[in-house]
Amino acid sequence: MNEVINLLQARSSVRKFTDQEIAQDILEELIKCGQAAATSSFIQACTVIQVEDKNKRNQLVDLTGGQPYVASAARFLVFCADMNRHKLVCEMHNSKMESGYAEQFITATVDVALFAQNVMTAAQSLGLAGVYIGGIRNNIAEVSELLELPTLVYPVFGMCLGYPAQDPETKPRLPLSVVLKTDRYQDDNDSKTISEYDKQVREYYRSRTGGTKETSWSEQISDMLVKEARPHMKTYLKDRGFILK
Ligand SMILES: Cc1cc2nc3c(=O)[nH]c(=O)nc-3n(C[C@H](O)[C@H](O)[C@H](O)COP(=O)(O)O)c2cc1C
Repeated sequence: MNEVINLLQARSSVRKFTDQEIAQDILEELIKCGQAAATSSFIQACTVIQVEDKNKRNQLVDLTGGQPYVASAARFLVFCADMNRHKLVCEMHNSKMESGYAEQFITATVDVALFAQNVMTAAQSLGLAGVYIGGIRNNIAEVSELLELPTLVYPVFGMCLGYPAQDPETKPRLPLSVVLKTDRYQDDNDSKTISEYDKQVREYYRSRTGGTKETSWSEQISDMLVKEARPHMKTYLKDRGFILK
């Protein structure tokens, strides 16, 4: 259709990178693209920590559950939802910020996601590639300590970026009728449509793994959602000053 649409529809996560560095001026240009994203009530609640220290990178490999690309990617960025600076600016005006509302948590987290995806797309437009790392929430308290995050700041996810050394096939997405509804929510045909989609996902895994994995989407999701993931998150967020009220 056009270059931007082609770029967006061709994206897939990349976990193998060449040794080529990403120059700091390029990285900063990507961050400016992140900053250009819309931001709830102009709150600008995203802070990015670029992790350059090799020792910290290696620790993050372990803290993310052993994901080696956290160390091997040219860059590893940690995207934080940050309400700390808002507390500071309230103090600049001799007012006391009321924090801990679920709404603030949502707006800050949404800001981070919009910012990060702009970074990812801009990176892709320059021939770079990457993968998000939600694994930083596996040991989120330790990650927060490692990066010296104050209260009212939490790491939402990480992002590996680098020049790609692989070109994975794009992962098939749900059929449009499942994700696009008109005028009201209706899911009457979704189970049937998802069963059809399952065959496509199974085929995708079969071809990508040489037949060693053949799970369907619904199998994958139903295995995953029968247990609680990262049960420490609620306590952690409370400790950091998020989601108290
Ligand atoms: C917030 C978020 C966290 C993710 N965390 C990880 C991760 O820790 N490790 C990983 O290898 N992939 C991670 N991914 C990548 C997803 O697994 C991937 O986007 C999904 O399987 C779809 O594949 P695709 O990106 O190639 O289309 C994450 C993606 C998102 C959006």
